[in-house]
Amino acid sequence: MYTLGVDVGSSSVKASLVSIETGKCVATTFFPKTEATIIAKQPGWAEQEPDEWWKNLSLSVNFIMNEAKAKASDVKAIGISYQMHGLVCVDKQQNVLRPAIIWCDSRAVPYGEKAFKSLGSDLCLSHILNSPGNFTASKLAWVRENEPAIFEKIDKIMLPGDYIAMRMTGEICTTISGLSEGMMWDFNTNDVALFLLDYYKIPRSFIPEIRPTFSDQGHLNAKAAAELGLAEGTPVTYRGGDQPNNALSLGVLNPGEIAATAGTSGVVYGVNGTVNYDTLSRVNTFAHVNHAKDNIRLGHLLCVNGTGILNSWMKRNIAAEGISYNDMNELATKVEIGCEGLTVLPFGNGAERMLENKEIGCSIQGLSFNTHNKNHIIRAAQEGIVFSFKYGIDIMEEMGMKVSKIHAGNANMFLSPIFRDTLAAVTGATIELYDTDGSLGAAKGAGIGAGIYKSAEEAFSTLAKIRVIEPDTANQSKYIAAYDLWKSRLEKTKA
Ligand code: XUL
Repeated sequence: MYTLGVDVGSSSVKASLVSIETGKCVATTFFPKTEATIIAKQPGWAEQEPDEWWKNLSLSVNFIMNEAKAKASDVKAIGISYQMHGLVCVDKQQNVLRPAIIWCDSRAVPYGEKAFKSLGSDLCLSHILNSPGNFTASKLAWVRENEPAIFEKIDKIMLPGDYIAMRMTGEICTTISGLSEGMMWDFNTNDVALFLLDYYKIPRSFIPEIRPTFSDQGHLNAKAAAELGLAEGTPVTYRGGDQPNNALSLGVLNPGEIAATAGTSGVVYGVNGTVNYDTLSRVNTFAHVNHAKDNIRLGHLLCVNGTGILNSWMKRNIAAEGISYNDMNELATKVEIGCEGLTVLPFGNGAERMLENKEIGCSIQGLSFNTHNKNHIIRAAQEGIVFSFKYGIDIMEEMGMKVSKIHAGNANMFLSPIFRDTLAAVTGATIELYDTDGSLGAAKGAGIGAGIYKSAEEAFSTLAKIRVIEPDTANQSKYIAAYDLWKSRLEKTKA
């Protein structure tokens, strides 16, 4: 018996089949094999055809079912992870009215900013915990003003994961976590954020019915079952945005726990047990997958754009020709913690929300020709990335979150000993690295929603822990001194 997890990303759609008996993944794949198209009709715009997600999903699911030689009737439940903050509009017949406006499309920024000013920061922050920003509700406000003929035909609006569930089941529903990521959930009234919908002149009827994140969210209809090679009637029992879902995949569910990713760009996602927000919206706050009115679980989300992209830039431009990432890590160990006063501010990949959308670029500071060499620069780059994570974690701590542990996939920057040792020491948290991904997490989530697992603890009891990193307390003061210097240089640069 299996559960199926799908992860609808903007570069590919991944699917994994997980054995209920062993908890292990028996088959996994993704489509397309080269990055999916993002349509950009204007600079800053980003759209995708929802039907392309469906086609890639179908290719992935058919492939893994064949590979595992699984019987359709052996798949007991389906879970969906999806790219966040997107907008899909459908008419009464469930026809898609325009391409999806996806998470990284920034056309709605002025709409969100105007709403934040007009409605007032106090009202917005105390109700939706963020500025309306560039999130789904603001994208819909853009459609209303710029494409009135389309707006008129809208029956329901959805997030990408809601759309995939609709294609599977013919039912349109969403979750509180989903509405919160679109700025359509009011944490004060525990209802749809009517004040913002009214301001944007969006009818409440556009908002789908709300179902719990882990619950029966409809059953595969005959058409979808045939297209996916699955059995009609298979239940969809979980959906979550990719960042909350990543946290679930890593067993990060309770206050003080952090899920981190450090690929090209990075995310630090911390769970808080009290309703709070950052007055400057440097980190965003959404309802976590296990949030409930009487069990507050909020995810504070920090994006760092310049993460692995800086390390790869160092490899191409600073390190000697032909050197590997492992060689670079080795060279970096030849240098003291703190790189003898050399700091890298890693912000060379666009405006950072954490820095209030300022573009300060990447800079190398404190360079002495008589002290520093390539190895210092290589190490300072990795330390700089860690320090940007710590800077965001400090903001989360100001919001009342006490960091106790950090979980991450055993991948990308977490493969570097200097990166993970620095992060453990500077935060004082234990880091645990796991072998998992979003589609596996979604498959486990499906098992929780279907009642196959009694709890998240049971679902994730088989998670393969690869490594545990304890903070190096003997050298902690050196790490903290390096961070303090980095932070003071960042504050000066920002000013
Ligand atoms: C999170 C965010 C991205 C998307 C990508 O706030 O904007 O990480 O989740 O799908």
